[in-house]
This record gives sequence, C-alpha cells and structure tokens, in this order.
Amino acid sequence: MNGFIKAEGKYLMSRSRLEGKVAIITGGASGFGEATARLFAVHGAKVIIADVQDDRGRSICEEVNLPEQISYVHCDVTSDEDVRNAVDLAVSKHGQLDIMFNNAGIPGDLDFAIADAGNDNFKRVFEVNVYGAFLGSKHAARVMIPARKGVILFTASLASVVSGESPHSYTMSKHAVVGMMKNLCVELGKHGIRVNSISPCAVATPLLTRKMGVDREVVESIICASANLKGAVPTEQDVAEAALYLSSDESKFVSGVNLVVDGGYHTTNQSYSREIQNVLFPKS
Ligand SMILES: NC(=O)c1ccc[n+]([C@@H]2O[C@H](COP(=O)([O-])OP(=O)(O)OC[C@H]3O[C@@H](n4cnc5c(N)ncnc54)[C@H](O)[C@@H]3O)[C@@H](O)[C@H]2O)c1
Repeated sequence: MNGFIKAEGKYLMSRSRLEGKVAIITGGASGFGEATARLFAVHGAKVIIADVQDDRGRSICEEVNLPEQISYVHCDVTSDEDVRNAVDLAVSKHGQLDIMFNNAGIPGDLDFAIADAGNDNFKRVFEVNVYGAFLGSKHAARVMIPARKGVILFTASLASVVSGESPHSYTMSKHAVVGMMKNLCVELGKHGIRVNSISPCAVATPLLTRKMGVDREVVESIICASANLKGAVPTEQDVAEAALYLSSDESKFVSGVNLVVDGGYHTTNQSYSREIQNVLFPKS
C-alpha cells in the first residue's frame, strides 16, 4: 500500500512533520520505542531502530517494508562500540543524524527496601538507563555539533518527579537522566541542539506486563483505577506523540523540558483526603 505505513495497529497515510530528518531510536524494538519508530516513519523520517532484540527489530522493519526509510541495527546501549557504530551508520546511510532518542531502559529488580536492595542490580540499572543514555548523547553530539543542529531526547519516567513508587535504583537512574538532559541543554544550546526528556507514567508495555507477570488488561485496569485523568487509557502512542512533537520543528524553541505524560498524576497526592474519608466516613 503505497503512501501508507502500519502504526497504531492500523495503516496510516504518510504525513510529513519529520520529512528529511534522520532518527536513531534506542530500545526501538518494543514498547515506546517501537511506537515512536513507526510514527516517525509515518511522518517521513528515516529511522534506525537500535536494540538488542534483533528478531523483533528486524520484523518491525520487514512489516513496514520501506528499507530506505526504516532499518535495524544491533546496538547494546552499554557498549561504546555499538553506539558509535549506530551513529556512524546513520551518517553513512542517510548523511546525517537529526534526532537521537535515548529511550532504551530496564526496570531492574523490584527491591523497594534499601536494606535488601541488590548491588549488582543497582549497577546494571545504572549501566543501561544512565551510562547507555550518556553514550547515546556523547556519540550523537559528536555528529550534531559540527552540523549545528539536532535533537537529543530521553525517556525518563514519572519516577523522576514522583517519589516512593519505584525501586531506588530505577528512581535514581531516571533522576540522573533528567540531570543529564538539563546539563546537556546548557552545553549544547550554543550549537543549536535542543535537549528534552519525556517522563511517562506507567503504561502497559512489555516492560511492565513482564515485570508484573500479568496481562495487559490487568495492568491497564490498575493504571486507570489510580489515574488522575479519567476516561483515557495511557498507551505507547501517547509517548510517541510527545516524542514527535519534541523532535519536530514545531518545538523549535523548546529545550531543557522534562515533559511529564501522566494525565496530571504527579500534581496529585490524595492520601490525606483518602485517610479523612476512611476515618470520618468508613465504609460499612
Ligand atoms: N512502561 C512504563 O510503564 C514506563 C514508564 C516510564 C518510563 N519507562 C521507560 O521507557 C523506556 C522504554 O520502556 P518500554 O516500557 O517501552 O519497555 P520495553 O521493554 O517494551 O522496551 C524497551 C526496549 O529497550 C531495549 N533494551 C533494553 N536494554 C537494552 C540495551 N542494553 N541496549 C539496547 N536496547 C535495550 C529492549 O530490548 C526493549 O526493546 C525505558 O527507558 C523505561 O524505563 C517505561
């Protein structure tokens, strides 16, 4: 089907908010990264999916079936060589790199109590979530600075603004990602490079369903029951749309922003009013 690309589970007509741009999406073989890769392709970007899930990454490219537009490269974000290779591939294949989406991440173990938290798990979470994002930024900046333009984007998390709901290692790693985003925004602004992050709330991607060991429907029902904004189920697409905005020229003067995509959840804390309800109006 010429002019149509499969995204959001259906065929969408090509649009052009990213026409002429080249993007690398780490962790692009699943979840937020996959939805973003498909949406970016719909909008005319040349997309390189950089992931360690080779079969998944390749099958997305085969399904989209536009080899000039969307391709896959094996890239472990904790390997300097792999990340360097992915960035060099963008330049050799497409002539430039306009968008580096440092999205790959892992949740790590669910060890919420500091006394029991695993040291190796802590190091691994930081290796992927923080060191991986550092390498992605470093190699992207290497080619973006001479070009005097570019967008570096991160997937942080609601854990970067709401405390106590994720393990320490994960929460700390996402604070570090936002710290890197802000520092880079200052360093790279003079080179015309914008740097932002997206902080999604819980979304029933494979990361979460696997971790919780339950079906997507169960995860979504928990998310919706605890949501501030009712009447909408948060999906990968919401993050992809945020990434599209922050990567397109429509956000040409937006830099240093941690865009929270959570239906306003982080503005609320209803435990006090809930306690009042429980004490004054206990359910019989
Ligand atoms: N799902 C959520 O609820 C949620 C909420 C907030 C933030 N996040 C963050 O969003 C990002 C994407 O997560 P997702 O929910 O789409 O998960 P996902 O598991 O569906 O996708 C993550 C992708 O990252 C890849 N990846 C993992 N380690 C890698 C490595 N070393 N090198 C290259 N690729 C690697 C995986 O293979 C996978 O394809 C992560 O940074 C995660 O921390 C997720």
